Amino acid sequence: MTMTLQTIHPVDTTPIVASSGSEDLDPLWRAIVDESRARGNDIHLPISFAYAERLCDAYPDADALVVRVAILLHDTGWARVDESRIISEGFAGDWRTADVRFEHERHGCDIAREVLPPLGFDAEFVGRVTAIIDGHDTRPQSHSIEDSLVRDADRLWRFTPAGIALASGWFRLTPAEYVRRLRAEIVPELLTQAAVEMAEAELSRSEALLKTEQLS
Ligand SMILES: [Fe+2]
Ligand SMILES: [Fe+2]
Repeated sequence: MTMTLQTIHPVDTTPIVASSGSEDLDPLWRAIVDESRARGNDIHLPISFAYAERLCDAYPDADALVVRVAILLHDTGWARVDESRIISEGFAGDWRTADVRFEHERHGCDIAREVLPPLGFDAEFVGRVTAIIDGHDTRPQSHSIEDSLVRDADRLWRFTPAGIALASGWFRLTPAEYVRRLRAEIVPELLTQAAVEMAEAELSRSEALLKTEQLS
């Protein structure tokens, strides 16, 4: 059992829909419009990005720009993976180790190397971002605090009603079944105390709103 990373800073567990967005990365969002159309990225990436910003507030030692850029780009590589294989291989059977998982990580690194330099990010920064994107789904261990915050933000969006709606369909589970899986399997994977607090608050709200106890 790994220790979760503690924080002495305040943790914002209010509904993520109440987040006010920052605008400094708007040019980067505009650079990935095409990639945002794949696999619910246009819902997943902004919601996970909002969680990443809250996690950075709770862990000010992390390089927030690296975390924010890495979460924004981490799944763009799905746009270069054949759509039918995403569902057939990416969410069934041994989905965590399916080839498409490695492929979307590699393509995501390529996209980072394509879109970041024209926006003024230097090679050292791009390397720190791709080090997180590469293996974000397939590498068992996090190798930095920035990596850990990206991993947790990548999971936290699923606890919202929007995340439950999209991801339960991908896994062919009812919302009630999916919520049980989140509690049993995803909460224990979280690496930071702040993310655990956010996940539990969001999950309780989603369970009540979606009436998962009554509809199970
Ligand atoms: Fe991914
Ligand atoms: Fe993701």
